[in-house]
Amino acid sequence: MTNFTISDSELDAIKDQVVIVTGASSGIGLATTRRLIQHGVKVFASDINDLPEPEKSRVPFLKTDVSSWAQQVALFKAAKQKYGHINHVFANAGIAPKTTLLEDEVNENGDLLPPILTTININLIGVLYTVKLAVYHIKQSPTGGSIVMTGSGSSFARFSPTDYTTSKHGVYGILRSMYENLHPKLPIRINAVAPSWTDTSIVPRELIDVIGSDKVQSPDVVARSVVCLMADRERHGQMVYSDRGEFWDIETGENG
Ligand SMILES: NC(=O)c1ccc[n+]([C@@H]2O[C@H](COP(=O)([O-])OP(=O)(O)OC[C@H]3O[C@@H](n4cnc5c(N)ncnc54)[C@H](O)[C@@H]3O)[C@@H](O)[C@H]2O)c1
Repeated sequence: MTNFTISDSELDAIKDQVVIVTGASSGIGLATTRRLIQHGVKVFASDINDLPEPEKSRVPFLKTDVSSWAQQVALFKAAKQKYGHINHVFANAGIAPKTTLLEDEVNENGDLLPPILTTININLIGVLYTVKLAVYHIKQSPTGGSIVMTGSGSSFARFSPTDYTTSKHGVYGILRSMYENLHPKLPIRINAVAPSWTDTSIVPRELIDVIGSDKVQSPDVVARSVVCLMADRERHGQMVYSDRGEFWDIETGENG
């Protein structure tokens, strides 16, 4: 695996580009929105919850549930209307696990209930919707651009929450298949980030206490890897794992 560093100055290459962020109101999405603004990007944010201040007063935003195709169509239309084109898309919205498939809940007849698929619908189907809309819109931009998806350490490692791990392995599948379909055939690169434990609202405080707060990184670490993947035109098909502030490309790096 190739370990690399990211300097703030290399992120300035993203200046003046147009970026859509999903799941922008908290955690990794909010940290990325802040990073993008810091580096001169025109951000269009979306989430099911409002942005906090000061971003709420400053950043164009559309309330969007990523598991709804119609709402995502409206999001991309609104961003295009605002800025004229779209360069990069961060498919980031995600939720915690809901099922391991071991639950024994039954209905009034005693028949086993189906698994709750909310996590699959948001973390995987939502990302498929975002990627499809991103391809459609970015290829119309004169300079093209890129897509970054939020995977996880559980995109490639053993992790017992079944729906979550399945959804994040699915994100890796999107990366590996779309790599073949995009650049250089289309002016669109695709990459993903795979954060290890990161201090956001998806990770319960009690769990952070168990893991140890020194092993949990700040969401700005992940944000820097996202902006790096958008800004560096050489990066395509990469899965950038981050852990405690360090970065590895585990897909195309040496021994990746
Ligand atoms: N925090 C970690 O340790 C960690 C590690 C690996 C991957 N991730 C991934 O990072 C991504 C961001 O999560 P986070 O850790 O910042 O958590 P977070 O809860 O702080 O942020 C997630 C955001 O997604 C939004 N969201 C939830 N459902 C949505 C929906 N249906 N449509 C649109 N927005 C929705 C939430 O409102 C929230 O603002 C997720 O995909 C998560 O799986 C997190």
